Amino acid sequence: MIFSKIVGTGAYLPPQIVTNSDLQKIMETTDEWIQQRTGIKERRWVEQDKAVGTSDLALEAAKIALADAKIEASEIDMIIMATLSPDHDFPGTGCFLQPKLGLAGIPALDIRQQCTGFIYGLSIADQFIRSGTYKKILLVGAEIHSRGLNKTTAGRDIAVLFGDGAGACVIAATNDPTGSRVLSTHLHADGRFAKELWIQAPGSAYAGPWMSKERVEKGEHFGAMNGKTVFVHASRRMPEVVLEALEANHLKLSDVDLFVFHQANLRINEMVAKQLGIPEDKVFNTIEKFGNTTAATIPIGFSEAIKAGKLKPGMLVATAAFGSGFTWASALIRW
Ligand code: COA
Repeated sequence: MIFSKIVGTGAYLPPQIVTNSDLQKIMETTDEWIQQRTGIKERRWVEQDKAVGTSDLALEAAKIALADAKIEASEIDMIIMATLSPDHDFPGTGCFLQPKLGLAGIPALDIRQQCTGFIYGLSIADQFIRSGTYKKILLVGAEIHSRGLNKTTAGRDIAVLFGDGAGACVIAATNDPTGSRVLSTHLHADGRFAKELWIQAPGSAYAGPWMSKERVEKGEHFGAMNGKTVFVHASRRMPEVVLEALEANHLKLSDVDLFVFHQANLRINEMVAKQLGIPEDKVFNTIEKFGNTTAATIPIGFSEAIKAGKLKPGMLVATAAFGSGFTWASALIRW
């Protein structure tokens, strides 16, 4: 039997810190509102006047993950790239990352599962490895949200939540059925809620031109969200999908050593932990420092948890995410 195993992790956060007070200078908001509703204190943004793309952040995280795995880039068989803030509308950001790693020729697959992107990517990597098709896959989640936010009072419900960053994992084949490995992944989507959290334009779904001045004036090129609906569904689906993963592996909540959840809102994660009855010290959060970095959040969480001494070899890790689509997913990993 072949299993997949995470053999290296890396995270890269742009150095520029944007605090809640910084946001207060450009829109009507307060540190108190943001912290009370979301737990976020600060986030990172790339320097707005520099030409840095999502693939550049992805490259930095990938280099750290490769060094951590102690392998050369040339050993990678495939790149899976998860982002909702691509370098360009097409081709996929994986195609921009690939030559930066000197890997011309290997497959580069972009997936668009937003906040659930990393776990969907992990599942795809796991399937390719278990089938024996590939031996080493680079999975990257990266976002530059800061360029696509409406940084005025009209966009404040979303602008305060998101940050830039990248996280990467090297995933490799193993034959050890009891050692470090991905135990299982569980994926879901419910497209009936696709318009509850989306960017509606540009798009092919409209009559007329791909993009118009009117659509830009209406701000349809910015993300739009029904925050309350997202909150309610996320708080329900995340515990559900964690329990699904445990049941599939005949494990109990108390068997899990660390929960690394997606970081959309600290209040969502507190509610998930409360519903599941998980002790606080088993949940690893990064949202205070980085906000919601969408597809990058979970691999950044892994890296930060390792750095903080909270994630160690042999531990059983549960990860779960919820996001636009709606999509939600979980994975159980023996670290
Ligand atoms: N600063 C200050 N006030 C703000 C604000 C901001 N950044 N954003 C919104 N407000 C205002 C609203 O305009 C509203 O004012 P009103 O009562 O005068 O109309 C008030 O705050 C309450 O807004 P509401 O949207 O009801 O707040 P909420 O309690 O639902 O919290 C979220 C908003 C976004 C924090 C919350 O809904 C949430 O976190 N949802 C999930 C979002 C998420 O996870 N998204 C990513 C998914 S992966």
